Amino acid sequence: MSLRNILIHPDPRLKKVCAPLEGVDSAVRKLATDMLETMHDAPGIGLAAPQVGVLQRLIVMDCAKKDEEPSPMALINPEVTWASETMNTYSEGCLSIPDQYEDVTRPAEVRVRYLDVDGQLQERAFDGLWATCVQHEIDHLDGKLFIDYLSKIKRSMITNKMKKLKRERARL
Ligand code: NI
Repeated sequence: MSLRNILIHPDPRLKKVCAPLEGVDSAVRKLATDMLETMHDAPGIGLAAPQVGVLQRLIVMDCAKKDEEPSPMALINPEVTWASETMNTYSEGCLSIPDQYEDVTRPAEVRVRYLDVDGQLQERAFDGLWATCVQHEIDHLDGKLFIDYLSKIKRSMITNKMKKLKRERARL
């Protein structure tokens, strides 16, 4: 396992539509393992491959609460097959947009079809924080960030903060 570098917004790689994976091999499994380790280390509850500079359709998540057993998941080529009409609003954050949290409204429940790390086709229902997280991560695969749901003025304020953060980090 090894930690990968997490890209910070703005970065052109975070705006790209990612390509589907042809299948699941040891390189894909290694990437999933590295991404889970990177996500836990950050710490975060979700991470998408483009956030580590890999423009492929792979996401990892672990939304287990502190008092629950860890339940890491890797989803390859994930697709929302059903979304509830009921909506839910969460204060979202993103490892590519550190320390910024804003309310985003999304379907409260979704079903997602994906390949697991064994290459098996799965379909699973998500609700609560898991539903928010899986939709946020799938958005990353289409070059969409949670700040794209905010007003233009809020988005540019956050983007300017991130540009400043990147300048500060570059000086270190
Ligand atoms: Ni994110």
